[in-house]
Amino acid sequence: LDNGVARTPPMGWLHWERFLCGTDCAAEPERCVSERLFTEMADVMSADGWKEAGYEFVCIDDCWMAPTRDERGRLRADPRRFPSGIRALADYVHSKGLKLGIYSDVGSRTCAGFPGSYGHYELDAQTFASWGVDLLKFDGCNAGSPGLLAEGYRNMSLALNKTGRPIVYSCEWPFYLRPMQQPNYTEIKQYCNHWRNFYDVYDSWNSIKSIVEWTALHQDSIVKIAGPGGWNDPDMLVIGNFGLSWEQAVTQMAMWAIMAAPLFMSNDLRHMKPEAKWLLQNKEAIAINQDPLGKQGYRITKDKNFELWERPLSDRAYAVAVLNQQEIGGPQNFTFSLTFLGNGLACNPACCIQQLLPTSRDWGVHSWVSSLSVEVNPTGTVLLKVAPL
Ligand code: DGJ
Repeated sequence: LDNGVARTPPMGWLHWERFLCGTDCAAEPERCVSERLFTEMADVMSADGWKEAGYEFVCIDDCWMAPTRDERGRLRADPRRFPSGIRALADYVHSKGLKLGIYSDVGSRTCAGFPGSYGHYELDAQTFASWGVDLLKFDGCNAGSPGLLAEGYRNMSLALNKTGRPIVYSCEWPFYLRPMQQPNYTEIKQYCNHWRNFYDVYDSWNSIKSIVEWTALHQDSIVKIAGPGGWNDPDMLVIGNFGLSWEQAVTQMAMWAIMAAPLFMSNDLRHMKPEAKWLLQNKEAIAINQDPLGKQGYRITKDKNFELWERPLSDRAYAVAVLNQQEIGGPQNFTFSLTFLGNGLACNPACCIQQLLPTSRDWGVHSWVSSLSVEVNPTGTVLLKVAPL
């Protein structure tokens, strides 16, 4: 979507995977979906280096609303959990130098059963803009039909545009459409800043693995469409939670960088282990993700349990990821010829190779005909940057 925003993949924090639909603030004051959760997350984001690392959006997902619209038909926040209202929350988030994201649904109800935007696209877009919202995640539950789904996603995009406020528009259009028909990505990119293609991420290796595999299997249709203003969204970063080993967390960070994915963490920034923070704030991995050329990476080969991925970067450089899928045994070596990278251009006649993850290491200068052998732990990834000489 050519609305001036999301020229690189947006970065921030989104409550869903970690906090789901917690509404019982009496029993779980620290975890319920409430203004406290978002103000505390904004505090930590500005105090603990997240903002400097590039994480900008504090985003609300499902379950923020009151069960009914107000007397003028406008959406409103649950008054007990958001006593100050969304306008005040947006002001607070802006005062920290951050941006606020909100959530609604194209259909008559959200997935969790709160009021949807169907029949109210213009009013809801105006309401969000009047509150100072900077991003809208627009879910696709209860849309009715593929036609209404598409029409709804288009109309909300036009309605947001009409407000005159630059608002990042996050869609799930292809994900909800796919069971019924093939998405038209050219059209989706015209209307959305990023879009989900596949199932929700879970806090598990199985989930990360299946998202990466789905992306590789569909790369011929989805990679070419991604670029400044419009990105494929493989869903949230779950690093810093409970389900991923260290190696698997490295794989998520490296692969989300290769895939030019929006980086929305869903974790509890108030209680974050130093290793998870180091990984999520890793400057080199983030620079790959945010590379201004804006080309999404793709899988070049799958050789037994090893996958080799590359992403073209600005200045004729390439990011390269070596992923070891083998879940038995210890570290394994993978040797690959540099001749194949970048269609023969990445290391021609020579290149300089830097390892970024899991640890930084200088691999020095290599020539076109040489090969590189890297050791990768089970379910881990080695992320490299290859720059031509
Ligand atoms: C389905 C979406 O895919 C999730 O990311 C989340 O927004 C839930 N709906 C909320 O109900």
